[in-house]
Amino acid sequence: MVDIITAKTAGFCFGVKKAVDKAFELADPEKKVYTYGPVIHNDEVIRRLSDKGVQLIDSEDELKLLEGGTVILRSHGVPKAIIDLLEDKGIDYVDVTCPFVKRIHDIVYKESEEKQIVIAGNPAHPEVEGIMGWCKTPADVISTEEEAEAYEPKDGRDVCLVAQTTFNYKKFEKILEIFEKKSYHVIIVNTICNATANHQTEARSIAEGADAMIVIGDKKSSNSRKLYEICSEVCPKTEFIQTVNELKLKQDGSIRKVGITAGASTPNYIIEEVQNYVRREF
Ligand code: F3S
Repeated sequence: MVDIITAKTAGFCFGVKKAVDKAFELADPEKKVYTYGPVIHNDEVIRRLSDKGVQLIDSEDELKLLEGGTVILRSHGVPKAIIDLLEDKGIDYVDVTCPFVKRIHDIVYKESEEKQIVIAGNPAHPEVEGIMGWCKTPADVISTEEEAEAYEPKDGRDVCLVAQTTFNYKKFEKILEIFEKKSYHVIIVNTICNATANHQTEARSIAEGADAMIVIGDKKSSNSRKLYEICSEVCPKTEFIQTVNELKLKQDGSIRKVGITAGASTPNYIIEEVQNYVRREF
């Protein structure tokens, strides 16, 4: 019998829960309900929503062709141009952007007139795309300490540094130190969501004491991938899975303590399936 330690912070965070609950509440096969981009990064949840008639719209071009219905705007937030487009077309929309992401939109919208916005984050992530879409002047994105070292604001503008909510807080602290040493004027707003920091701290501490660690999350979910990165640094037997069927970990006699955590977009029932499997098989 192994000890199973499941992170208290595993699974849906506040923003995702709110968005998913709202999407299921609005889902109605009799009506035209769409989501602009996946509401959250989890294929299982998207599939269940689609079973209830919620259709996924993936591009602005598709949005332009809409004639009616209700559009749910994803939890990671969308560029301002998308909201303007829906308003121009007179299409109903429900914005389920997480309030912590919305806060970043408000900051960059206000500051970008005078200052150069720099976002610590992944430029390919929809949240960052959304944030950039609220800047009145083009924003820059940096992802590494090397990029922070090399960074120079255009035309010597003052800088406003914000972070993608799921950015690794240790990395952000380092980037912050680098920026503070620079001679240009910079205001720094730590916009990393506490849910992410707490998630990461708890995952690391469980992984440190575990013989094996399981991180559950969608491969497209950036916060899940970061949990995997953090756990594998301290626990070599860390596995990253989407559902219990992918688990390859086997009891070889050396595993006495198994830690489990899950990304912010992982539904509870998937976590329970993994717990039950480990309880049964180990
Ligand atoms: Fe919001 Fe934080 Fe979750 S930003 S979506 S509560 S990870």
